[in-house]
Amino acid sequence: MTSYKELGLVNTKELFEKAVKGGYAIPAYNFNNMEQMQSIIQACVETKSPVILQVSSGARKYANQNILKNMARGAVEYAHELGYDIPIVLHLDHGDSFELCKDCIETGFSSVMIDGSHLSYDENVALTKKVCELAHSQKDYVTVEGELGVLAGVEDDVSSEHSHYTQPSEVVDFVGKTKVDSLAISIGTSHGRAKFKPEQCTRDANGILIPPPLRFDILEEVEKQIPGFPIVLHGSSSVPIEYVHMIEKYGGKLTDSVGIPEEQLRKAAKSAVCKINIDSDGRLAMTALIRKILVEKPDEFDPRKILGPARDELKKLYAHKNQNVLGSAGRA
Ligand code: G3H
Ligand code: 13P
Ligand code: ZN
Repeated sequence: MTSYKELGLVNTKELFEKAVKGGYAIPAYNFNNMEQMQSIIQACVETKSPVILQVSSGARKYANQNILKNMARGAVEYAHELGYDIPIVLHLDHGDSFELCKDCIETGFSSVMIDGSHLSYDENVALTKKVCELAHSQKDYVTVEGELGVLAGVEDDVSSEHSHYTQPSEVVDFVGKTKVDSLAISIGTSHGRAKFKPEQCTRDANGILIPPPLRFDILEEVEKQIPGFPIVLHGSSSVPIEYVHMIEKYGGKLTDSVGIPEEQLRKAAKSAVCKINIDSDGRLAMTALIRKILVEKPDEFDPRKILGPARDELKKLYAHKNQNVLGSAGRA
């Protein structure tokens, strides 16, 4: 049993309180490997932003949970070495069972998500409540994120073709019964790089897909029901068209890519949305640079010369998000 405090990590409690009051959102960036972790920390130290390092169960299988835990400890020391101690959270993304959440809590995670959004309402309440009871009774309080409403797209092993928006009428009851610390809601975002079907979008003069707007009316209604309560947005990559074009220029094929426009995320970050999840944009940036190097330098075979530029691009992307989209820069 390791407490997250031994690793130098923090839970989300105070970070979310400040973010809701300050009208910004904490970035939650997924990571599975060293280069992603380094670029996240470099960007967040440089922009003086708090950060949530999140690990999906797929990431746990890929990288091994003890390695990830020690990478989070390394991230804390790395930030210190870079000259600025930022608050760092280690969070389980889309936990799908009590056992997985328990395992992560015992490994040293400071925050877990229990995603019961695919269950019936009553089952979601019961499972989320059980995880909260365990997490909150630890010597060092572990924070819990729950989810109401279903996002379209792939959430780890669970995939859903259609989204179901969060019903604002349910949130007071859910938060009261479960005692969650934050709530992920569904207002039109979805996971992955193709967030909407082309028939749901319009096109600009260059044929680029323009997505339908997020349902800010639902967000506003949720905020009215639970004023000041921390809200989380999943599936919030913007799918930058430059990366899509770069990937396609160097041999990839990413048909019908479309994300959530940055202006809409900026607007959401100013509300009670205090955690914004971004994974796909990092994947796109990394893949774009890797493809470019492999094509432009066919004789290169040193992985450091391939992954190094990808890491630099990732850092630029994360710094941009903190400064210009989430508003978390300067808040650490
Ligand atoms: O919500 C999903 C995240 O992007 C994690 O994706 O399960 O492929 O690691 P993954
Ligand atoms: P994206 O696929 O939009 O990056 O969403 C990531 C996410 O929600 C992780 O939980
Ligand atoms: Zn998600």
